[in-house]
Amino acid sequence: MSAAVALTRAAPPSSRYVFEVSGAIPQQVRVWSSRSPYLLYLGGRSAGKSLAGAMWAMTRARGTTGLIVAPTHKNLLGGALGVMLPYAYDLGIVRRYNKQDGELHLVDGKRIFIRSLDRPELVRGLSVTWLWGDELGMIGHREAWDILIACVRAQGLRQRLVTTTPPPEGKRHWLYDTFVLRGVAGIHEVVKTRTADNPFNPPDFEADLRREYADPYAARELDAEWIDVGAVQVYDVERLLVRQMPPPELRATARGWDTAATGGGGDYSAGALISQGEDGHIFIRDVVRGQWAPTERDARLRATAQGDLVQVPVYLAEERGGSGRSQGDYWTAQLAGFAVRRVLESGDKVVRAGPLAAQMGAGNVSLTCEPGRWENYWHQGKRLTPEAARAQFRRNLWMFPQGRTKDESDACALALEAVRGQDSGLGTRH
Ligand SMILES: Nc1ncnc2c1ncn2[C@@H]1O[C@H](COP(=O)(O)OP(=O)(O)OP(=O)(O)O)[C@@H](O)[C@H]1O
Ligand SMILES: [Mg+2]
Repeated sequence: MSAAVALTRAAPPSSRYVFEVSGAIPQQVRVWSSRSPYLLYLGGRSAGKSLAGAMWAMTRARGTTGLIVAPTHKNLLGGALGVMLPYAYDLGIVRRYNKQDGELHLVDGKRIFIRSLDRPELVRGLSVTWLWGDELGMIGHREAWDILIACVRAQGLRQRLVTTTPPPEGKRHWLYDTFVLRGVAGIHEVVKTRTADNPFNPPDFEADLRREYADPYAARELDAEWIDVGAVQVYDVERLLVRQMPPPELRATARGWDTAATGGGGDYSAGALISQGEDGHIFIRDVVRGQWAPTERDARLRATAQGDLVQVPVYLAEERGGSGRSQGDYWTAQLAGFAVRRVLESGDKVVRAGPLAAQMGAGNVSLTCEPGRWENYWHQGKRLTPEAARAQFRRNLWMFPQGRTKDESDACALALEAVRGQDSGLGTRH
């Protein structure tokens, strides 16, 4: 099939070259004409990502300085450069290419740095107007990105383009966080393109792969969906059930708290109310959560205990060491009249999440929607409605152990340990 995009060069001695597009893939055209400072071109395998990036790079404004990066040297050769250099040489627009220094100069005065991210610290110090990162979905940690975006600081229309297949971590990846969760309209733009959208692939290419691939894998690799295939997911929230009310007969109930060490400062405190039914089923009945300074946090603790009825024991995670102990003493005094148990925090948060995650996976855990519950749940400074609170809680468990979700998971883990440890004779009924 004939190329639908072509670069043509004005007759020498002019250094101008122009870009001709005929029948190109519409998503590629969107990339080329976008003025967004942050642009993510998310595509299936062989969807035309690298070609889109190469054309984009070659057609940035004359005289600008740019940076092209890929996770490894091999990725650069096989992807970005492998696609771009033949076009550039064909057209005779390469003035100088220094492999050792990783610098490409084009006839229109563009200077392009080429780097792999094997050692991201080596891009520090570069100052460019535009950046193209190919296959950055392979980079599991966002630090390299944070370093990269700071290099885009020269005069002109500053743009960063990422072309990649969706990362294996799906929505847990920093790219999803950066472009979707925290994406700001007019600043972050995501263009999605499927393998099937590229008519320049062999006719049976896509269908052949689709037949061979497992469905979720195909959804990611061919349809460019954010899907984590085989990622560590601690909580299988698909199996978390929802019930209006817990049954009237309950074997045990407890409130578990994980409190922020300092309060204020952005850390969350969370208290989870969990009951176990006679048949062993677990009910998550309420979560109280917020970023509270110590005084407010302690007032919440007390108000929550009062709301829970006196016979519901309150389990508090106590940090090891002297300050944890004195904090614990203080709470015991604050909660005089309630059954307060202090539990020393131990082990890893993912290990602590194990019992609840296992019960959830077995379909043995429900969220309940009792009136008056889920009413003291703050998220990012806003108090949520009970319905939104349950949705956020579910999302946080799903993200766990990524994101700032340790508090709720730990609070639930503690409450669950408590209800399972409670001798049935001491169980509460209400
Ligand atoms: N607009 C276009 N015109 C002509 N050919 C194109 C166009 N877009 C993509 N192609 C061709 O489609 C094939 C795949 O393109 P490209 O290598 O850019 O895809 P990719 O998404 O980067 O693939 P990979 O998943 O292997 O990284 C290449 O042969 C490329 O030349
Ligand atoms: Mg590519």
